Amino acid sequence: MNTQQMDIKSGVTVPDEELDRQKEYEREVRELLHKRYPDALPLAFVHSYGCQQNVSDGEKLKGQLAQMGYGFCDSPEGAKLILYNTCAVRENAEDRVFGNVGALKKLKKQQPDLLIGLCGCMTQQQQVADKIKQSYPYVDLVFGTHALHRLPELLYQTLTGNRRVFQVENSDGVIAEGLPVRRDSALKANLPVMYGCNNFCTYCIVPHVRGRERSRDPEAVLAEARQLVEHGYKEITLLGQNVNSYGKDLSCGVDFAGLLRRINDIPGEFVIRFMTSHPRDCTRELIDAIAQCEKVCNHIHLPVQSGCNRVLQAMNRHYVKEDYKKLIDYARAKIPDVIFTSDIIVGFPGERYEEFLETLELIKAVRYHALFTFIYSPRVGTKAASMDDPVPAEEKGAWFRELLAVQQDIGLALFHSMEGQTQRVLVEGESRSDPGRLTGRNYGNILVEFPGDASLIGSFADVTITGAKPGILFGELKKRF
Ligand code: 5AD
Ligand code: SF4
Repeated sequence: MNTQQMDIKSGVTVPDEELDRQKEYEREVRELLHKRYPDALPLAFVHSYGCQQNVSDGEKLKGQLAQMGYGFCDSPEGAKLILYNTCAVRENAEDRVFGNVGALKKLKKQQPDLLIGLCGCMTQQQQVADKIKQSYPYVDLVFGTHALHRLPELLYQTLTGNRRVFQVENSDGVIAEGLPVRRDSALKANLPVMYGCNNFCTYCIVPHVRGRERSRDPEAVLAEARQLVEHGYKEITLLGQNVNSYGKDLSCGVDFAGLLRRINDIPGEFVIRFMTSHPRDCTRELIDAIAQCEKVCNHIHLPVQSGCNRVLQAMNRHYVKEDYKKLIDYARAKIPDVIFTSDIIVGFPGERYEEFLETLELIKAVRYHALFTFIYSPRVGTKAASMDDPVPAEEKGAWFRELLAVQQDIGLALFHSMEGQTQRVLVEGESRSDPGRLTGRNYGNILVEFPGDASLIGSFADVTITGAKPGILFGELKKRF
């Protein structure tokens, strides 16, 4: 790392002394737990809601807990610690968390030494932390996204004090390098390259709860990627709210396209994915890099949100549909088999039916293999939450169903058009409904099912596509590796 870069990064990187202090707390908690539970390993149930970034944070929470001497279980029953790593992106995500926390009241009564903790995007919002303080007195520990690396200290305080611990700090966010990670899979790994978001799309809570964009040092990212490959990981997903902004806050001149190229150069048999790309920042250079890097999957998740320029402007997206389509055309010219997926919001405040129809038109023109579709959900503190929103929920629901029907036909037709193609699939497991069959994902992250024996799990296989249903391709094994 050169000095200039160190200067720039020093404001956001958690200093080593602070990380060492947390290691001390880890030791303290380990001793304490050992005394409290001398006969059996105390178990933790950690559940992450929402996006990949949150799942990745959850893996760090579990890494820290493992260091402190916790084992893990798959349900709240039997746990000594329950930690919900929450999501705030839509109201239904928050409702689900409150519902699940409500259900823990009984468990806490039966088992007073149970610790209940809440963290993540939801609890980074002061009004949510206050609500938990008042209405959920059996929740012992609450902390926001910026305090993730302080879990050992906060847990120590919870275990030793007679009071509840609330830690929600207002911050632009930090980067804590070198935290222990307990990954959910031995095959597919999340690799955050940057944190936070500066875009402030008017509907979105993310910039309010995850702070400003901050890129990890490329050397740290590369070292972690090399380590993952050495450990046999076959798929690495580079994560960021807006990966195309990678490097803008660094002075070493590496942008996201450059980072992709460097990870692609790591020897080994693995594939690279990334999410999410903002259409405004998705450059031609990035598309060229995807085209040229053989390990980078030819799949671009490029959330368009709306096909109406007025709505896009009200969303503060900084592009028009014409530019978006040009980008798609450029990518299709450079990468003929590229698969596009997208996110759509239906019923943004003030959206009219004719404007929604423009979104349908765009979807029909682009032809995505899959869409993640959402009905607009107002989020406290965002600009859109104070905009006029006259369309009733039932009407938005009808638009939403119309969108799903259109997309289902497009997706299925595109899936059928793959019949006869032989595609490389990372085999993940046995089909739940039919154990004689295997499931995996192709380069577009589409589920593929085919007959085969369990010895293929964990490796790549070439599969010839023979059929499709909504959301799934069927095939036959052509070649194993
Ligand atoms: N309401 C509905 N959908 C939202 N998203 C983000 N914020 C909201 C909201 N307030 C969707 C966007 C984004 C995806 C991750 O979630 O489509 O791309
Ligand atoms: Fe939210 Fe927009 Fe940032 Fe994505 S780019 S996290 S939608 S503000």
